[in-house]
Amino acid sequence: MPGELDEAVPLPRTRACPFDPPTGYRELAGGGIRRLSFPLGGEGWLVTSHANAKAVLSDARFSHRSELLASPLPPPFELPPGDHRPPAAEPGAFNKMDPPRHTAYRRAIGHLFSPRAAADLRPAIEATAADLLDAMAAQGPPADLVRDFARPLPAAVVFDLLGVPADLRAPLQDNLDTIMRLTMTLDELIGSVTVVGELLDELVASGRAGGALARLAARGDLDLQEQRNIAWALLGGGTDTTSNMIALGTVALLVDPARRDLLLAKPELLDGAVEELLRHLTISQFGASRCATEDVEVGGVLVRAGETVVVALPAANRDAAKFPEPDRLDLTRDARGHLAFGHGVHKCVGQYLARETLRVAYPALLGRFPGLRLAVPAHELRMRDDMDHYGVHEVPVTW
Ligand code: HEM
Repeated sequence: MPGELDEAVPLPRTRACPFDPPTGYRELAGGGIRRLSFPLGGEGWLVTSHANAKAVLSDARFSHRSELLASPLPPPFELPPGDHRPPAAEPGAFNKMDPPRHTAYRRAIGHLFSPRAAADLRPAIEATAADLLDAMAAQGPPADLVRDFARPLPAAVVFDLLGVPADLRAPLQDNLDTIMRLTMTLDELIGSVTVVGELLDELVASGRAGGALARLAARGDLDLQEQRNIAWALLGGGTDTTSNMIALGTVALLVDPARRDLLLAKPELLDGAVEELLRHLTISQFGASRCATEDVEVGGVLVRAGETVVVALPAANRDAAKFPEPDRLDLTRDARGHLAFGHGVHKCVGQYLARETLRVAYPALLGRFPGLRLAVPAHELRMRDDMDHYGVHEVPVTW
């Protein structure tokens, strides 16, 4: 093992360019894996190459059980040094489990998120997008693209799909947003976790849910706790993510009008362009963490049982060995094989729905406002370094 790998580094966080991963990854990229230090103590590994990322995420010897994972992020509030791994997943919280428990839950919800199910939702997504854009037009410029379009569209799509009643949507979304902030107080965290838990408990117990949640209840083999935690995983993963891709992707298109013009002139490029935006922007900024359950060799180094490996998806998606000239946003490139939705058994359950939403959102927005442009210089945008998912807090636009 080369000596330099012995020195543990903290997770790189600082970005020189808002569209690029933290600059620190560039220096670390060489070997594709290196020692990582955790803010509360202890060390693990950081994987930066595409090949090693795929290897870890598809290897059953790496676990996603929450209670095994050390966090690479400093806690948002004061904690005494020591081990602060989260508790084991409750029944239904499949995103924090390993097979075979994980597999059973994925099977239960798989049909709701198939490519076919996502395609069937397209007319509804288009109608919601059109309503939001009508409202934006009626209000007149300027507008905040995040508030008026990027945030409400994916939220409505997922709430509609799950059958969440209208009165619960705003409190659920606001409190889920709080949980994803990296700057909250302990009281805020406890408060928001309690509210989301209570709202979802009430929702599944009252039988008020329609849509997918009603269908899951009707199976008869998932108890209320499981139903609630499945809903939580889907709401937590399904709104903020697509929303940030719409907002940040639009900014990437607007800062270089040639990109916007290309998409408008050649709609046949759209599907590929969406993949390239997903690759280039990789909003899961802190990647995917796994814990080795036995000693495993990755990229020529020995990862010991019990060590956490952070798979840096933003870095893997900029690996020149996989994507030539990786830092160039090229809407015409073949970006397939990117890891923006992860890889392996935990690969994003909502990937087809997210794609469908993005394929509706960008052309609907640009087509409706061909003169759309940023209302402030790009460098003044407030980037979401302080949130679980990267993106932009507000996007003032005019047309
Ligand atoms: C552009 C939008 C999205 C991006 C970039 C994204 C990204 C990801 C990534 C990287 C993972 C894997 C995490 C890991 O392996 O540790 C993941 C998992 C997941 N995503 Fe998404 N996601 C998006 C949209 C959605 C949507 C629309 C939903 C649901 C409606 C969703 C629900 C989930 C869930 C439940 C998981 C956990 C899957 C499992 O553990 O089996 N995501 N997502």
